[in-house]
Amino acid sequence: MTTSSVFRRRAALVVAASAVSLILGHLWLTNYDSLPDLPRLKSLLHPVEDNTALLQNLPDLESSLSVTEGDDNTLDFVRRASESGHVTFSAEFKYTKRCFQEADGFDIDRHDIANTVEPLITEHFLQVKLDQTGPVTTEPCAALSIPIAKPYPENATYHNLAFGMATTFSRLVEAFDSISHWASGSGSLLVVIVEDYTEHQRGISELLAHYHKAQVNATFIPPVSSRHSTSQSHFMVLNTMIVMSGNETEWFGLLDDDTFFPHLAPLSAALGILDHDDKDLYVGALSEDWPSLEKFGLMAFGGAGAYISAHLARKIGAMQTARQCLRESPPDFGDVLIRDCIYRHSNARLTVLPNLFQHDLTRDMRGFFESGIEPLNLHHWNSWYKEPVVAMARAAKFCGCVCFLQRFAFGSDTILSNGYSISIYANGLGSIDLAKMERTWGNAAGEEDLKWAYTMGPMRDRVPDDERKTYYLQYTEVVGQLMRQLYVRKGSGDTGSSDEVVELVWMR
Ligand SMILES: *[C@@H]1O[C@H](CO)[C@@H](O)[C@H](O)[C@H]1NC(C)=O
Ligand SMILES: *[C@@H]1O[C@H](CO)[C@@H](O)[C@H](O)[C@H]1NC(C)=O
Ligand SMILES: *[C@@H]1O[C@H](CO)[C@@H](O)[C@H](O)[C@H]1NC(C)=O
Repeated sequence: MTTSSVFRRRAALVVAASAVSLILGHLWLTNYDSLPDLPRLKSLLHPVEDNTALLQNLPDLESSLSVTEGDDNTLDFVRRASESGHVTFSAEFKYTKRCFQEADGFDIDRHDIANTVEPLITEHFLQVKLDQTGPVTTEPCAALSIPIAKPYPENATYHNLAFGMATTFSRLVEAFDSISHWASGSGSLLVVIVEDYTEHQRGISELLAHYHKAQVNATFIPPVSSRHSTSQSHFMVLNTMIVMSGNETEWFGLLDDDTFFPHLAPLSAALGILDHDDKDLYVGALSEDWPSLEKFGLMAFGGAGAYISAHLARKIGAMQTARQCLRESPPDFGDVLIRDCIYRHSNARLTVLPNLFQHDLTRDMRGFFESGIEPLNLHHWNSWYKEPVVAMARAAKFCGCVCFLQRFAFGSDTILSNGYSISIYANGLGSIDLAKMERTWGNAAGEEDLKWAYTMGPMRDRVPDDERKTYYLQYTEVVGQLMRQLYVRKGSGDTGSSDEVVELVWMR
């Protein structure tokens, strides 16, 4: 299988023009006396060992579910975003809001871009302060009618997938939001080797309770041997996964602790297409970075995950073979160890699964996220580049992965990349080739080269900063038939311009 097929992004602008504006029921007035309870972080766990500070940062699951559906107050949502601790605003900022209503009768092709004639952002920005006490009134929220994809069935489970990783206690605490985003309620087994398990036993049992409360089917265990490096544990976790799994498990995924899935449904579907029954399959993605490929060769790069069919996993994960594989490989890289073990002890060779990403890319990933891509996973989002992936991918809970990063055009110059950005182009949409990916990122290693196309598809040059205005997603809430997203454009301290904030409300 090659990666090229995925990148057949037909970006022809479909004029699904529904300029129908619905005026929604209530006027949009502020009354700060009736602010709802805001979700707060609380120290829910007893002080133990030296874990208190870490564990205090876990979200309170109960109150974060209590977000109300009907926000009558102009800034309620913005305030909750601020309270979440993930978003900060300038003292004064500009604020506007836009509502979407699900349009009936549209057959959505994910590769097309639905084009609405009306602009997304009208000029009615309000100058506001987060803590202001006076009322703020605006126009009623005029809803644009756009096609919105269906969500996944709420009760769908993924018992066919089992996951393993190796990390430290503090990283496992930090990873709570991102792991529970994709693992919660999935039924998928998750086994984690915690490198410093013995130093944190009580903290770990409290953390595990927290994961269980979030319906993550998790087991935390100490390393098989205290002498094992994290990379060796990254491979050895497979043994416990096999012991704990039943015959329902079809795939064993070995992940990095920052491997993030927008949702498990597309991963499960993509793996399901492969003929894995009683077969040895080794599935993953190559690095996008050519020097990394030259250095490490053809293997499932760790951050994209290595997905091993049950038949093969039970062979190489059996304790005797696993120990032999440890002896045969250097202890430095988990993904290399997995590759060597598979290549030495089976005839399986790497199957590259399109849309899995190692993300050996740095800094500005806008071009990737605005390309209309449907990534099965993201990686390096909290290190080589920084993106609030949990807030971004929450869209997948409202309208599936079809809808996450789906592009919508508005007016003649605006593209919404759902869950990532709103970009407005000074020279209009006619000036850019939306079928190509804008090359915005930095090189992980080595010189500039022209080999990106193999993993990323056709590319185009970066749009100069002064020809584009972008609002980035910072915060999302999904409650029932409603999704709220906050897109923010930071002002510049130099010119004294304030932040600009756009609230998008999706309704079906
Ligand atoms: C999920 O729920 C729907 C409707 O309640 C039902 O039709 C479907 O069979 C359920 N699916 C599973 C996997 O339980
Ligand atoms: C957790 O995973 C195991 C192994 O796949 C499975 O047998 C069990 O049913 C799962 N538990 C839940 C609550 O889904
Ligand atoms: C899986 O295991 C269960 C219980 O051990 C058994 O009843 C079932 O027939 C097995 N299913 C398959 C497909 O082998």
